[in-house]
Amino acid sequence: MLPEEEEQREPEFPEEKGHKAMARADRRLSKHERESRLLVKRSEDYQVFDDVFDVPTLMVVNDLIDDGVVRHVKGSLAAGKESKVYIAVAPDGSLRILKIYLTVSAEFKKRMQYIAGDPRFSDIKKGSRSLITMWARKEFKNMQAAHTSGVNVPFPIAVRKNVLVMEFVGDSEGKPAPALINAEVTSDDYKQVIEQVTILYQKARLVHADLSEYNIFKADRVIMLFDFGSAVDVRHPNSKQFLVRDVMNVNRFFEKRGIEVLDAAQAVEKIKGENK
Ligand SMILES: Nc1ncnc2c1ncn2[C@@H]1O[C@H](COP(=O)(O)OP(=O)(O)O)[C@@H](O)[C@H]1O
Ligand SMILES: [Mg+2]
Repeated sequence: MLPEEEEQREPEFPEEKGHKAMARADRRLSKHERESRLLVKRSEDYQVFDDVFDVPTLMVVNDLIDDGVVRHVKGSLAAGKESKVYIAVAPDGSLRILKIYLTVSAEFKKRMQYIAGDPRFSDIKKGSRSLITMWARKEFKNMQAAHTSGVNVPFPIAVRKNVLVMEFVGDSEGKPAPALINAEVTSDDYKQVIEQVTILYQKARLVHADLSEYNIFKADRVIMLFDFGSAVDVRHPNSKQFLVRDVMNVNRFFEKRGIEVLDAAQAVEKIKGENK
């Protein structure tokens, strides 16, 4: 680790402390610029970040490299509304995903309702942690709960500030597994999706809440759920509504592909374990 970085170990996101932080950030700007140039110089791998990242994010990635979680960042994979997804190489040569939350979009704020009603997050005081950091942690915790309960998900490796590190799902060349939208699907895939959602509900006690053909991988015939940022505890007041929506999204997709699906209400009962 570079000597100058020590005092920068806990970078703040401006929204954490509002204007004061902005003013401080302003004062530090030239220092930051020097440092980020240093980072870029230190490794060509930082080049992939270009102008995408703010300095605090670069610092987090740098810490992950120092701690041996990743060796270097290989390239960018996807850019969503709130986050960007990168492929990184681990010290042992295996591939990892960095999901980096960068902004708080209107959509994101709307989704705060998901956290607001979730008893696991009831102790979080407004402003005690940046929303972005909270969201990354929430996705990580959801993935851990799902994985521990036996749901097929990318293995969650680490979360630091706004950066979530997980197992890469795809081939050794770095080609990600196709999501259902880009895959040939069968009735077995539908059966697997319902099974996975059932384990998620009954064992992990979670509802995905953003389930669709875009957030389900088909990796070597195995169905895997991902993108857990919106998942909620089954005790969330809207969890039933989210589960119904998830099932309807999945049903609509498989029906469009000519595959016979369960009646949505029956599927929901089956998932909740209320059928006989
Ligand atoms: N673990 C992973 N392995 C391989 N590719 C991934 C992984 N996680 C995400 N991706 C890729 O990044 C895209 C966006 O990831 P996702 O978690 O769905 O973010 P968003 O919230 O932006 O939808 C996915 O559609 C997929 O192509
Ligand atoms: Mg997604």
